[in-house]
Amino acid sequence: MEPIYLDHAATTPMHPNVIKAMQEVMGEVYGNPSSIHQFGRRARAILDENRRYLAQSIGADEKELYFTSGGTEADNLALIGVALANQHKGKHIITTAIEHHANIHAAEHLESLGFEVTYLPVNEAGYVQPSDVVRQLRPDTILVSVMMINNEVGTIQPIEEIAKVLKDHQAYFHTDAVQAYGLIKLDVKQLGVDLMSVSAHKLNGPKGVGFLYAQQDVKFNALQHGGNQERLKRPGTESLPGIVGMRVAIEQIEANNYQTYDKYKLYRDLFYKELQQSGIDFSVNGKFEELAPTILNISFANTNVEQMLMSLDLEGVAVSSGSACTAGSIEASHVLTAMYGSDHPKTKNSIRFSFGFANDEAQMIEAAKRVINVVKRLTK
Ligand SMILES: Cc1ncc(COP(=O)(O)O)c(C=O)c1O
Repeated sequence: MEPIYLDHAATTPMHPNVIKAMQEVMGEVYGNPSSIHQFGRRARAILDENRRYLAQSIGADEKELYFTSGGTEADNLALIGVALANQHKGKHIITTAIEHHANIHAAEHLESLGFEVTYLPVNEAGYVQPSDVVRQLRPDTILVSVMMINNEVGTIQPIEEIAKVLKDHQAYFHTDAVQAYGLIKLDVKQLGVDLMSVSAHKLNGPKGVGFLYAQQDVKFNALQHGGNQERLKRPGTESLPGIVGMRVAIEQIEANNYQTYDKYKLYRDLFYKELQQSGIDFSVNGKFEELAPTILNISFANTNVEQMLMSLDLEGVAVSSGSACTAGSIEASHVLTAMYGSDHPKTKNSIRFSFGFANDEAQMIEAAKRVINVVKRLTK
């Protein structure tokens, strides 16, 4: 039985051109970009050129990019770095209840340091309301962080609207764009964000590399201490193969003008239609027409997530859920809990399907058939 990968929101396979470019750099360019000899200078030139390309891909200046080990580190650097550097202006931070744990756990750490954090609610469709941001803003708010595309349900948050309401406030605005970069064309100036986190492995690039965009006036502290790299904000020898891989990954997408958006939407729609025609009892979490096309989070009535995940794995369908199975019991997804309230059945019977580079059209029909069979068996 052919295994079918429907977990692209967790990570994606690397594009063959990414692997090729990384192999070349790994084999040939081993100098340290900080070394002054010709080996170092060659590495430095490649690093600088890739930084320029990646900065331009989001409408930023090369001096506004800080390479990190991925989305988690970029989120931590944004939240904790900004909080520590701006605490003289206030100690209040606003984030949301549906962020990735890289953000929420960084915010909780800040609470342990004496910062006050407001976690904005979402409505049943999974959206943060700009009016809630206005309501919670205080003179001592120093940072607002709202993710762009939610990694569990695929809701696209109103980032530009929130940026507008923050325009005349001292608070910096950060967005976690880990699920958005490479799917939709992003321009930080148009979005109106001050900081933005990105990770390469969600767009067919390598794992363990990403960047934080921070516009030039943003004050933030480094969280590591060491050498002079990344303008003292993120010391450590740069992962040149990783950075080159990330550049080639976005370059592929830009070269085909983000057409993968429509391709993945087609995959999702094929899969969805097949489920609809089957007559099984399911509902989509979030408003289907408004979701990012890569993510479909579905609640299957009268099932439980643990059984579903195990059965789908046996059927060769790789998916995940926001629920964590700990010590035999299921801990409900924090995102679905924010949408529906705790103890709602949907928080414990929902599965995330995510589409992308590893898929083709035929797989969508086959995957849906396997899902339908599993649901029919479990709800008999
Ligand atoms: C929205 C979001 N933010 C942050 C991260 C963390 O990124 P990384 O795996 O590169 O640390 C992820 C990864 O799942 C994500 O989906």
